[in-house]
Amino acid sequence: MSFEGRDILTTEDLSREDILKIMKVASKMEEIVQQVHISDLLSDKMVAVIFLEPSTRTRLSFETAVHRLGAKFVTIADPKSSSTQKGESLADTARTVAGYVDCIVIRQPQKGGAKIVADAVNIPVINGGDGAGQHPTQALLDLYTIQKEKGTLEGLKVAMVGDLKFGRTVHSLSYALAPFNPEYVYCSPEELKMPEGILKDMGARGIKYTETGDIREALQADILYMTRIQRERFENPADYERLKNSFILTKKLVEAGKENITIMHPLPRVNEIATDVDSLPNAAYFRQAHNGVYVRMALLAMVLGRA
Ligand code: CP
Repeated sequence: MSFEGRDILTTEDLSREDILKIMKVASKMEEIVQQVHISDLLSDKMVAVIFLEPSTRTRLSFETAVHRLGAKFVTIADPKSSSTQKGESLADTARTVAGYVDCIVIRQPQKGGAKIVADAVNIPVINGGDGAGQHPTQALLDLYTIQKEKGTLEGLKVAMVGDLKFGRTVHSLSYALAPFNPEYVYCSPEELKMPEGILKDMGARGIKYTETGDIREALQADILYMTRIQRERFENPADYERLKNSFILTKKLVEAGKENITIMHPLPRVNEIATDVDSLPNAAYFRQAHNGVYVRMALLAMVLGRA
């Protein structure tokens, strides 16, 4: 049950108890931020924040989390500035950095790349997004947001809309919420459906799900989780151009949907949520982004043995 020294690479192997513990610690972190703003819980710790793909929320909320815990960090925020550009392998980069710090947070474009890093080092590794694979810390902050917005994680109907093939957040979310008896509506264009392996895993876990291409079905859920069509994952730019506007959520559509439906999005959005949705009380996506700091504080404190 202890998280000390543990890697956070995927949500597939997190139990219900693990997730509830993370939610509890995140809530404690939120209290700490409100009370003292900066704590000294990790004042003797160093964290490497390595981002070899673009990011605003994940990198900055991890860096904020490090500051708020009183720790220090070193960072690679631009892949062009690291020796990976000279051909250094991910494993060698990891082995080198592990000699400097107590924990590594990494985002990079290769599915499974975070595991390569974790296998190369003896310090905890947190996956900040591995290509079209997983984004576990996003899913955990999504759950924290759901708990705050809905008062429970239990028995919710959750619709995931957009690029379910390449969108790593919906892969992680499907597994993370699975221990809480959800029902899923997977809404996507035919070419961007949820990968077969994840559907099989959901079936094996007894999760009820439906697939659709009609956003009006998704609007009957408790949570509408919108995602961006992932331009950077397409081999053929023409395919992206054809699919990029598959779903555009408007205020009118939300108002025709289930009463009190909560609208979430991992962000960044491009144009899949019209800005007239932002002023609705249902629009939780900026609150969701803010919750990332508390969840990432919790994960850092837990894997470093202080919570
Ligand atoms: N949600 C998310 O991962 O955002 P960034 O790409 O800005 O980190």
